[in-house]
Amino acid sequence: MTDQHPTPSAGADAGHLIVFDTTLRDGEQSPGISLDAAEKLEIAEQLARVGVDYIEAGFPVASQGDFEAVQAIARSVGNQPDAPAICGLSRTHLSDVDRCWEALRDAARGRIHVFISTSPQHMQHMLKMDEAQVLAEVRSGVARAREHTDDVEFSPQDATRTPLDFMLEVLAASVEAGATTLNIPDTVGYGIPWDFGALIQHVRRQIPGDYILSTHCHNDLGLATANTLAGVQAGARQVEVCVNGLGERAGNAALEEVVMAVRIRSDQFPGVTTTVRTEELARASRLVSRLTGYPIQYNKAVVGRNAFAHESGIHQHGVLADRSTYEIIDASAVGQVGRQIVLGKHSGRHAFADTLEKMGVSIHGDALNQAFSRFKELADRKVEITEDDLEAIVAEEVGQHLVEGYALHSLEVAGGTVGVPRATVVVVRGGDKFEATSEGNGMIDATCAAIRQATGVDATLIGLTVSSVTSGIDALGDVVVQLEGGGIKVSGRGVSTDVVEASARAYVAAVSRLVRIQARHEERQVEVGP
Ligand code: KIV
Ligand code: ZN
Repeated sequence: MTDQHPTPSAGADAGHLIVFDTTLRDGEQSPGISLDAAEKLEIAEQLARVGVDYIEAGFPVASQGDFEAVQAIARSVGNQPDAPAICGLSRTHLSDVDRCWEALRDAARGRIHVFISTSPQHMQHMLKMDEAQVLAEVRSGVARAREHTDDVEFSPQDATRTPLDFMLEVLAASVEAGATTLNIPDTVGYGIPWDFGALIQHVRRQIPGDYILSTHCHNDLGLATANTLAGVQAGARQVEVCVNGLGERAGNAALEEVVMAVRIRSDQFPGVTTTVRTEELARASRLVSRLTGYPIQYNKAVVGRNAFAHESGIHQHGVLADRSTYEIIDASAVGQVGRQIVLGKHSGRHAFADTLEKMGVSIHGDALNQAFSRFKELADRKVEITEDDLEAIVAEEVGQHLVEGYALHSLEVAGGTVGVPRATVVVVRGGDKFEATSEGNGMIDATCAAIRQATGVDATLIGLTVSSVTSGIDALGDVVVQLEGGGIKVSGRGVSTDVVEASARAYVAAVSRLVRIQARHEERQVEVGP
């Protein structure tokens, strides 16, 4: 077969692979994640440091909160030097498109991403529209977006279960109406690499025009990264990805995996490059994990804590002799390096702020004061404080400060092998203090029960995991708790040298998140669908 339409370019460099990060939109649709505007801003700033080309910042029509978050990112991150372009998601309704642009208009570069479902399953059961109606929606929605900006992306949702002829008709209509990027969503993760690659190639050959082809792969069969790479090999020049592979259900293709695969196996993607600063990937991964409460699986490719750990003697021997024996990625190339000791008990406020600045963490005012007193408390208990420790406490403090919710004020526990464990907690919310004492079958159980009582938030603890931020007897304990309340699952994280205190912090963070999601569910007017 001959190429009727060589790699579409929409005026771009044909080898440049556009990295479109959707952590703040599709990633935020992961069960139990609810980021507020300030947390989203933190993540967007890190994504800008990573060097992604686009940040899909949210779905402005979904709620006032989503709108404000997209607007805040467009106004700040979207105007920094070399800023990524900021994108908002929109249904085809004209009022949605207008609202989306309203949120984006202050960014130096703004993109509207218009989508509508095209599979029979979605059209019959969700949209209740026939093909002619969907086509009309595509034309009007994309044309309206094009009145606002010349950067318009179109997605036929559930493309991989859409009859091919209809999908091509819809895509052609969107190009005619002004779409400059055609995204092919594997919404339910149904694709298989060679099949998905062939689909991308087919679209490229059949749809004339000056546009960029894009992949958006979900991970229901664990194939999101493989399908994305097959798409790139077939000519896609935009990849839609999320940090840590977050996203609806099993998630989306992981930013760090796709970027590193293209880089490490450049022989398979001749001439294809990204502008990602890979040394920032690990930090992005940790930040997203902390602010979402979603832990990073130990053996997660590229950013997992075991990604560069060698257990067997033969492997250790090999790596000591020469790293290339068992490692294809240099840990420092993705920011996964043994981090240095940075501060100690005698370090003052100035050194603290200075170190954070060097780490690229921007924190000011009350949040800085709060983080500094957490640092001082920690320095009394731990001799050497590393960048990892600092990152953990600062993320927790920033998160707590930004999120209107409960904060742990004090905790007193008694337990051991004799007597019934008992805990007294004081939590604060909006200046008010709430105190409760409870017993339990262990100190952590008693603490959680006391928090439940103090906050009045009835939730079931469905999971609690403890790990350490760094090694050593005085390492910071890192606790993740998962709660379920009113059919909603959430997680929260807390750190401390004391695991009972870390558990209390994690529990309080999860309760705050639950309260926020419940409020947001009431506020949300629109759901995106799968
Ligand atoms: O998975 C999907 O289809 C989506 C679209 C909105 C692009 O996230
Ligand atoms: Zn998606």
